[in-house]
Amino acid sequence: MADALVIFTPSGKRGRFAVGTPVLTAARQLGVDLDSVCGGRGICSKCQITPGYGEFSKHGVTVKDGALSEWNAVEQRYKDKRGLISGRRLGCQAKIMGDVVIDVPPESQVHRQVVRKAATARAIVMDPATRLYLVEVQEPDMHEPSGDFERLAKALREEWNIPEITAGLEVLRKLQPVLREGKWRVTVALHKDHNAGPHRLLDIWPGFYEGGLYGLAIDLGSTTIAAHLCDLRTGEVALSSGIMNPQIRFGEDLMSRVSYAMMNPGGDVEMTRTLREGMDALIAEIAREAQISAREIMEAVIVCNPVMHHLFLGIDPVELGQAPFALATSGALNVGARDLGLAAMNPAARAYLLPCIAGHVGADAAAVALSESPETSEDLVLVVDVGTNAEILLGDKRRVLACSSPTGPAFEGAQISSGQRAAPGAIERIEIDPVTKEPRFRVIGSDLWSDEPGFDAETEATGITGICGSGIIEAVAEMRMAGLVDGSGLIGSAEQTGTARCLPEGRTHAYLIHDATATGGPRITVTQGDIRAIQLAKSALYAGARLLMDEIGTERVDRVVLAGAFGAHISPKHAMVLGMIPDAHLDRVTSAGNAAGTGARIALCNVAARAGIEATVGRIHKVETAIEPRFQEHFVNANALPHAVDTFPELSRIVTLPEVSFNTHDGAGGGRRRRRG
Ligand code: FES
Repeated sequence: MADALVIFTPSGKRGRFAVGTPVLTAARQLGVDLDSVCGGRGICSKCQITPGYGEFSKHGVTVKDGALSEWNAVEQRYKDKRGLISGRRLGCQAKIMGDVVIDVPPESQVHRQVVRKAATARAIVMDPATRLYLVEVQEPDMHEPSGDFERLAKALREEWNIPEITAGLEVLRKLQPVLREGKWRVTVALHKDHNAGPHRLLDIWPGFYEGGLYGLAIDLGSTTIAAHLCDLRTGEVALSSGIMNPQIRFGEDLMSRVSYAMMNPGGDVEMTRTLREGMDALIAEIAREAQISAREIMEAVIVCNPVMHHLFLGIDPVELGQAPFALATSGALNVGARDLGLAAMNPAARAYLLPCIAGHVGADAAAVALSESPETSEDLVLVVDVGTNAEILLGDKRRVLACSSPTGPAFEGAQISSGQRAAPGAIERIEIDPVTKEPRFRVIGSDLWSDEPGFDAETEATGITGICGSGIIEAVAEMRMAGLVDGSGLIGSAEQTGTARCLPEGRTHAYLIHDATATGGPRITVTQGDIRAIQLAKSALYAGARLLMDEIGTERVDRVVLAGAFGAHISPKHAMVLGMIPDAHLDRVTSAGNAAGTGARIALCNVAARAGIEATVGRIHKVETAIEPRFQEHFVNANALPHAVDTFPELSRIVTLPEVSFNTHDGAGGGRRRRRG
């Protein structure tokens, strides 16, 4: 009988096969992406396919009934036990009998795509380091003595083409009982990343293992630690959780932690212990909440800044506190999670740390680069990830530059008089009427503006408690647009601004947004000190970006990507009014959400992405802000709102900033008043 024509969709791969060839075999020979954990034993159901019947003029083929072998007992058993969508067959059981078109549904593809939330984002292709394999191991034979491990390795070689495996003591200890319990049929979890070397045996179960297989993408920040539990089979995020970084008690910012290590013998060891304990508690909590066993968590990908990187690894960060800011190692690391003190995972679990870019630009910036891929951009893109430090990347497919700038915690609502974390009750949006100078605002937890009916009732439970990071940006920018603050950042008096909301506060003024003191609530103002804190933070951010623009020799960027939790909530217009970011068309300022976390997730789900980012990081040109004299100059110029020197043509097309000056010591400007004494 002539060979049958087999066409796979959606890949379009086609070939001719002898009648009787299993669909799984044909798929493998053609390199079609069809999954299998049990190796064709009809147990795992990963190989599900949907045959199509009838005329396929596009493919030039007619598929007759009987193109596949009849539904068999193995499929029936599987359907009875687990259920099978109608029309589906098991690819390892169905045999090719005639010309046929076979669709591989997304869940049967090994390298299935996981769609990321942001519309512009690339999908993640699943190709994780850890996979499961069902394998049948030969029983021991006295006449041909060999170890159980060696026979397992032989079986994996023969059944799965895996040339070599290695194993730690932990898993070797359970090998013999599990092999016997499973009657020599076992499922193994093997880890193999992009580097050369053997597959590493992480765990073993008797028979076919049907439990979970998870990994963690961890964004280890100086202020918070966020972890995403990802299903390593589907790429889906099963659960996300976070904690405050317990190291905060050693200092709010990175440099204070480095100096803690410098000033206190053993301080680095103490900080390492605190951090690891916190991480471990977070992981245990995630496993508990997701109702999985810690043993199901097989690996973690960790992204962090260089100081966190060193402290987490147990390396004294003292060199990072002084020029030339040398890292102990900048390369990516693949180590045992146990060696990092992470006990709440599988005992053999692996941890991968992305490479650091430079002494001040860490693996978190590398993760942002992995998520946003500036190195493939046609136009010049500025990516800023704002946290306690801002990581800044500028580039296109020709070259990419990176730096980090110490913005401090003001953008996160810290060091702001009425500042608070983004939580229900916090003001997140604000508008100030340029004529009446009256504010209206929205708080987290309600969609209503404060001047809309029903606002009081809706916010009764949470109250109006303070201003979060994005709220303070909007407040200061709105004050500037309403003429309550001048270009130097000074708040005017009631007389100068024409609103009684500008209250004297010592020798300066504050703008009253909300006063609930009559009912025992808080009084929420923006003070002169708050504006100074925002000015310092935004000047650091802008100066960093400007330094990279100098380096590339440009006055303009084509687009701006705001990354980080903060970037997701910030309004581009307000950020530009403050001069946080360089001028660009507002449509070309987008938010990338938590790009560092996404980068960690990509690296967790796809080993090629690890190789890719390691190569990219090697090509990123680092600019050190701390020793660059022009940084100071840019910083000073950026202190003005929006800027003392640089122009904002795109911004001025949509916003006209009032020309006011409240400097009591100079005679120039609009709403000025000279004060004596
Ligand atoms: S390959 Fe496992 S059921 Fe078909």
